[in-house]
Amino acid sequence: MPKSLYDNSDITQNSKQLDVLKKNFPNCFDKNGNFIAHKMEEIVGNAGLELSKESYALNWLGKSYARLLANENPRTLLKEDKVHNAKEAHKNSENLLIKGDNLEVLKHLSNAYSESIKMIYIDPPYNTGGDGFVYNDDRKFSKEELSRLAGIELDEAKRILEFTSSKSNSHSAWLTFMYPRLYVARELLREDGVIFISIDENESSQLKLLCDEVFGEENFITHFIWKNKKGGGNDSKYVAIEHESIVMYANDENYLEKLFEKYTPKYLKRYSEEDTESKYFWDTFKRKSGKQYYPIVCPDGYILEFDENGNKISWLRSESRFKKDLEKGDIKIIKNPKDEWTVHFKQRLPKGKKPRTILIEESLLDNEATTSDGSAELLNLFNKNIFENPKPTKLILKLLNIISKEEDIILDFFAGSGTTAHSVMALNAEDGGNRKFITVQIAEKLDDTSKKLQKNKEAINFCDSIGVDRTVFEITKARIEKASEQLGDKSGFKIYETSPMFEGYLDDMEELNAETTLFNGKALNAEEIEVLLTTWKAYDGMLLTDDLDEVLFGTYRGYYGKNTLYFMHDGFSMEALQAFIEKLDDDQGFEPSKLVVFGYNFESKHQRELKEALTNYKNKKSIELEMVARY
Ligand SMILES: C[S@@+](CC[C@H](N)C(=O)[O-])C[C@H]1O[C@@H](n2cnc3c(N)ncnc32)[C@H](O)[C@@H]1O
Repeated sequence: MPKSLYDNSDITQNSKQLDVLKKNFPNCFDKNGNFIAHKMEEIVGNAGLELSKESYALNWLGKSYARLLANENPRTLLKEDKVHNAKEAHKNSENLLIKGDNLEVLKHLSNAYSESIKMIYIDPPYNTGGDGFVYNDDRKFSKEELSRLAGIELDEAKRILEFTSSKSNSHSAWLTFMYPRLYVARELLREDGVIFISIDENESSQLKLLCDEVFGEENFITHFIWKNKKGGGNDSKYVAIEHESIVMYANDENYLEKLFEKYTPKYLKRYSEEDTESKYFWDTFKRKSGKQYYPIVCPDGYILEFDENGNKISWLRSESRFKKDLEKGDIKIIKNPKDEWTVHFKQRLPKGKKPRTILIEESLLDNEATTSDGSAELLNLFNKNIFENPKPTKLILKLLNIISKEEDIILDFFAGSGTTAHSVMALNAEDGGNRKFITVQIAEKLDDTSKKLQKNKEAINFCDSIGVDRTVFEITKARIEKASEQLGDKSGFKIYETSPMFEGYLDDMEELNAETTLFNGKALNAEEIEVLLTTWKAYDGMLLTDDLDEVLFGTYRGYYGKNTLYFMHDGFSMEALQAFIEKLDDDQGFEPSKLVVFGYNFESKHQRELKEALTNYKNKKSIELEMVARY
């Protein structure tokens, strides 16, 4: 009997990576599965690459555990908010807001959205000591299990379990939190995709080395410096800190397009004239330094060659280029108010401006891009302070402008108040684009203990006033709604959330057998079957925003979308089989390449019959149709 998709009993800290190696380099393994290192060296050597002798690496307590977390299958299921998603405003949307722990969510997205995301922006907990970051993990490994799966000594396993269960905020804890999230997120990036990560001094060094490990050092593009305060902040002991960093990595630098930045209105102001070629302004042709000396004949025959001090004048361009430009009308020779001849040329607006690493007011789309501007934006939407230190949309717009095109998907899996989603909608409103956002936020409770009540009071009051749970997720959702209303954005968004695994579903998985398992798959109700369908459609590569259509085979109901057909319910009869074959014959638009049956609702005998019928049919029609029994 096949195992469940969610079985983690064989997953270790390197099981997936080994599978990739075995699949792609079978000759590097002997018949007992041992790795033959020199065969791999041959491959690398033949490509002319040197073997690096450097053994520099980032190590921390919990690294192998973090690798194990990255490799594990999800421990949750996915559920849709059917009421919200059915609404007219949202039913055709391709935007997503997903509630849940982002590691789980990223794993659920990893097949459907594999290599689909152009830009990721995240603003994770900075681990400042005061930002509430603590390592939180409800996995229940014994030290023996962890030692086996992570391939580490018992003592190390014990020390890791101590910090994972003790709400630690050490550097190791933070790195263990970040590694698997970045690792899985990378799989979602397109080959020309990029990731931007906001960070401050507390973890920026750790983050750089961590990203080198996940994305490859050669894909590091830069550290942007964002001046996040107008006046110098005074909150540090010795030096007023007034910036944060944004680390940028390409998924693969070889595919990264040239980056051009949009001009700020202030920058554009100078280019006040325009001809058929471009915008321009008249700039002086005379240069203070340089060695391009030649005489220029003025309209009245006066020859400009020496300045008022008798020194030769150097011009901006070569004489031959000057002549061409003069002929074209790109040069004018006029008298200044002092009645002296002067030479001007058309300073044309460059095709694009390279982004600069220092993000200060002037460069940020004309100002309003500090943390307090972010707060002011939220205040403007809600009339309340409902989120501490949101990023300003102008900052995210700057990043979107550098990289995103009109059809791209943008992901933020630490959504907070939803600034990224807001910025994506704002940019679409500005340039008529159709960018999509996917944004993820955990249902973090708004802390109402006496210590935090003051800080969260307005957010709590807001949630109470609209009758929703007191969570950050509800703030994210409300922000996206308000921002889209304000912008007149009609793209809507669908809501999904992670949902706990059914009780007993994963128990006894190792000896799983439909006849003996304690889990009763037949007893799942309609809603639970829907949860499985939602989770499986993403697993089978369908977008969450793609619909599964109900299809009737006689009286038996199946679900069909993107060439995958699901038979989830029991009661599949000969009559249904007959109707299924007829539909395959008659309906041109019905071309499943995969049939997934829910094993618990199909006795082995029925599974065999169905398989045989399909094999006969396939042989007759020579079509590809794979049947999978899934548990
Ligand atoms: C610094 S805030 C992001 C602020 C956001 N950039 C904005 O402008 O509003 C980080 C957010 O990540 C959320 N978060 C932390 N851990 C998470 C997890 N494991 N999964 C999903 N969200 C998480 C926190 O609840 C918080 O809202």
